Amino acid sequence: MKQDMIVILDLGSHENTVLARAIRDLGVYSEIYPHDITAAELKALPNVKGVILNGGPMNVVDGVEIDVLPEIYEAGFPVIAAGHDKATCEVKLPQIGNDMEVVKEQVRSFVFDVCKAETNWNMKNFVDDQVELVKRQVGDKKVLLALSGGVDSSVLAALLLKAIGDQLVCVHVNHGLMRKGESENVVEVFSNQLNANLVYVDATERFLTKLEGVEDPEEKRKIIGGEFIRVFEEEARKLDGIDFLGQGTIYPDIVESGTKTAKMVKSHHNVGGLPEDLQFALVEPLRQLFKDEVRACGVELGLPYEMVYRQPFPGPGLGVRCLGAITRDRLEALREADAILREEFQNAGLDKKVWQYFTVVPDFKSVGVRNNARSYDWPVILRAVNTVDAMTATIEEIEWPVLHKITNRILAEVPNVNRVCYDLSPKPSATIEWE
Ligand code: XMP
Repeated sequence: MKQDMIVILDLGSHENTVLARAIRDLGVYSEIYPHDITAAELKALPNVKGVILNGGPMNVVDGVEIDVLPEIYEAGFPVIAAGHDKATCEVKLPQIGNDMEVVKEQVRSFVFDVCKAETNWNMKNFVDDQVELVKRQVGDKKVLLALSGGVDSSVLAALLLKAIGDQLVCVHVNHGLMRKGESENVVEVFSNQLNANLVYVDATERFLTKLEGVEDPEEKRKIIGGEFIRVFEEEARKLDGIDFLGQGTIYPDIVESGTKTAKMVKSHHNVGGLPEDLQFALVEPLRQLFKDEVRACGVELGLPYEMVYRQPFPGPGLGVRCLGAITRDRLEALREADAILREEFQNAGLDKKVWQYFTVVPDFKSVGVRNNARSYDWPVILRAVNTVDAMTATIEEIEWPVLHKITNRILAEVPNVNRVCYDLSPKPSATIEWE
């Protein structure tokens, strides 16, 4: 293994990820583990250089004081305490968050002076290490991966491809609700450029038929999610000799920001509803990465910029932006309008500035006039929001000329549309998506 590691043991701190990030920012890899890790488990981790016990107030979680196993102090690693006042610890650190500058300096001194860790945390070393680990885990077996084309699954596919080549079988299910060119792009990049073993399933008809006449947003989501698993399962059954499932789990999926250490690992072992007899062992090489690190990993692996920096796209895709009961004509209008919006945002440099932007087509018509004749057509709603965590969102103040250009293009190029509106609602009271 190429990377030194500082292990953070979670004794109920709110700041585990802040600390892990701070250490990674120093160029040293860091991972968070539960407080009750055994000395043997700790020693089995690669290249551990030191251990930080990261506690909350009095190390009390749900009224119970927690501590690490005494054997941890005897495991042969330098140990330091952060964020609490345990007398047993060799060195005391002030509460993280009280005086970040002092803490940073103490962490730095612990990491470099005491642990003698080297600054060898970078994406190249990460990729090399994970390639090695995946090879070791998988051996000569096969790995199945649902490749949606999203950032996490794309980066995962590229990494697994580098590690095990054609032992990786990717399945891309096109549910017919993808953005314009998106499925084609997945095929182009992974099949044509990277030579991946890719099974492309065009399930458009199947999804649209299932969704016919279904108005309720939750019902639509359920149908799309459930059908997705069924299609994937059917494909999986056709393949022989698969032992592993690649999963694009990333760090925020695993680490709870809450204090309860017992809650630290979410139920991410659930492979999303695959039936009992289709349970695979999981391969999750991205599980220690934060989102921006996943992107950096994708860049390191040579994936195209647009794929790695693509904006968030909901699993149900355009299905939740074609409001109410989905019809093919509205879905097509939505897809074309979305492509125009994306193109013009790119032309205006807004694609790098705005967090998420998309179009919505509601299920009502309005009266308009075109070529001196009355029209009765759909409106297109534009939406562009900024957010940090998607819990709240503000509206991007788009310049008028950009809005005009997008409006004019949509009205000229998209059939069955006679109005364009801009959604000014923040979250709350609205959500980012319309359904
Ligand atoms: P809302 O609409 O709840 O969306 O404000 C917050 C963020 O989550 C995305 N989103 C989804 N992502 N599957 C996903 O992977 C989904 O079902 C889903 N629904 C919403 C949404 O695009 C926004 O970024």
